[in-house]
Amino acid sequence: MSGVDEATKARAEWLRAELKRHNELYYQHESPEISDSEYDQLFRELRDLEFAHPELVVESSPTLNVGAAPSGRFEEARHAVPMLSLDNAFGHEELRAFDTRLRNLLGTEEPLEYQVELKYDGASLNLTYRDGKLIRATTRGDGTTGEVVTHNALEIQGIPIELKQNAAGEIEVRGEVVMLKSDFEAVNRARSEKGQQVFANPRNAASGGLRQLDSALTRERKLSFFAYGFGAGGDQFGDSQGDRFAWLQAAGFSLAEKPQVVRGIDAVIAVTEQILAARPGLNFGIDGCVIKVNSIAAQNELGNTSRGPRWAVAYKFPSEQAFTRLNEIKWQVGRTGVLTPVAELEPVSVGGVTVSRATLHNREEMTRKDVRIGDTVIVQRAGDVIPEVVGPVLEKRPSGAEVPLLPTHCPACETPLVQSEGFVALRCPNKRACPDQLASKLIHFVSRKAMDIVGLGEKQIVRFMELGWLSDPASILLLQEHKTQLLELEGMGESSVENLLKAIEASKTQPLDRVIYALGIPLVGERTAKDLAREFRTLEGVMTATAEQFDDVPDIGPRTAEEIAEWFHDPENMAMIARLKDAGIQPIEAAAPTSDLFAGQTFVFTGKLEQFTREDAEALVLKLGGKAAGSVSKNTSVVVAGPGAGSKLAKAESLGVRVMTEAEFLASVPEGSW
Ligand code: IVH
Repeated sequence: MSGVDEATKARAEWLRAELKRHNELYYQHESPEISDSEYDQLFRELRDLEFAHPELVVESSPTLNVGAAPSGRFEEARHAVPMLSLDNAFGHEELRAFDTRLRNLLGTEEPLEYQVELKYDGASLNLTYRDGKLIRATTRGDGTTGEVVTHNALEIQGIPIELKQNAAGEIEVRGEVVMLKSDFEAVNRARSEKGQQVFANPRNAASGGLRQLDSALTRERKLSFFAYGFGAGGDQFGDSQGDRFAWLQAAGFSLAEKPQVVRGIDAVIAVTEQILAARPGLNFGIDGCVIKVNSIAAQNELGNTSRGPRWAVAYKFPSEQAFTRLNEIKWQVGRTGVLTPVAELEPVSVGGVTVSRATLHNREEMTRKDVRIGDTVIVQRAGDVIPEVVGPVLEKRPSGAEVPLLPTHCPACETPLVQSEGFVALRCPNKRACPDQLASKLIHFVSRKAMDIVGLGEKQIVRFMELGWLSDPASILLLQEHKTQLLELEGMGESSVENLLKAIEASKTQPLDRVIYALGIPLVGERTAKDLAREFRTLEGVMTATAEQFDDVPDIGPRTAEEIAEWFHDPENMAMIARLKDAGIQPIEAAAPTSDLFAGQTFVFTGKLEQFTREDAEALVLKLGGKAAGSVSKNTSVVVAGPGAGSKLAKAESLGVRVMTEAEFLASVPEGSW
């Protein structure tokens, strides 16, 4: 092999062996050791090397093959049409390059029509139907031959045994088997309780669930199938990708979301951005979008390479997970004194952001996950939620990795910790003088969903506390008194001081629900704060209500009701509120109802609404004298259910609660009231 130096050759060989090993870990053992983006990086390096030095290419290279060979545990079957893979595109530039390449190949300057689909993050499955009846289900395997898992397919939701559309002869329907996020959490909890390795993500759980010898185990995983295309025989079902999807749906397959057909790459990019923003809210994992040329004629003209179709590309989103080393566990003292374990990590990039700390939620979770100092752990960050540790990678545990010790004293004020009866949490009882408790309280008070004081973050709060300016929430509203000193502080220019003081001033007239939330009453989150504001309308109203009155509010249970009443009985808390009032706080009171049309009735909205946001719909109910709740109980009067309604609708039906569509609800309110 002339022209290629030994080092390059060795690197290519190493990359091939590494990729093969990771393929097996991923496809056969469902327990990867590296994140998807690390895999993609290795893959690209090998592909680029082979592109620069074609003499390095060998037939068995992972760049030319898909997946991993079948494991030998199952009967095998050849796919009538190979199950190919997709090329990846990272970033808008690569998407544009894909579009330019296709238009060059097709010889057109006109914008192309594309269907933008979700790229489900699961395991692919090939379903063979003969004369409309399911005869075989096969995994992708190496792309040519897969493992026969028909017995398991019968346990997966969304796979019709018989098609609802005519389909003569043999056809292959392809799609992805996924586990819903909600089911995934339960599966992992059970696994870690049994001391088993947790699944890094729903995909691994789905892939493992699909390849069980005992189909009862597949059923337990509650998997779902989403169809995305055809193998053999698909040509008869429409001239466009969109038409084929419509056929699949009519035949009885579920499509998670309606895919969008758009013209031109700019529109494609806009749709991918929408999907990226919606990702954290979906109940199943996606790792990107698949962009497909909509016209089947154009697809056929473009054809395939040995790896995948030329007419489609996977636009990959940044991975929401990464693997890194856990260096230490620190305990953070929250606003109610409860200690939270926080993992200090070797910094790692997750979803485009460097993460060096991640929450372990609470002591129970930490013990359940059995993370040890020095472990390689899976870290996850979805949307703007706080990064969390999913669990350790047991295969990579170094010998002597230490079980973290539980603290006995508060890390901030050294007070011996207590454990309240019936609770597992460790708490610092030093309510008055623990500096970390106060800092957490103040950080919560100014946060975006509370008083929303922009320009006052954790760093400034700690600094101002050290300077002795902050002793309680009211002292934040009085920072104006330290204006001269503020202006002298390093890093605080005149305009930032002005802006900060303006933001503080503006926060004095926040809506009542924000103020209630900002108070930091245990168990009172945003939703409960809203319920309290709507129900009692003024701060005085809330302060003087009894536990029974709190309990009467829909969605507030007896325990929370007790906790709220107790909080408002504590003279220290009342004094704190009095100081806030002295400092000028004047919450905007919630509006009184304008009618008693819905008096005595409680509404729950679920599923997708077309005309309103859920918040607006709930506000309308309140305006008309009714109540709105988030969960269905025997006290619910009406459930308004839109498309996609799930467990709440089912519960309403089982309790015999009246169910309405959005249109019926609208018809029941007076014209002009919304
Ligand atoms: S089309 C011939 N559409 O992604 C091309 N694949 O990286 C077949 N996947 O093996 C793929 N969602 O398992 C297609 N909407 C979607 C998909 C999708 C997920 C998976 C599929 C495929 C892999 C390719």
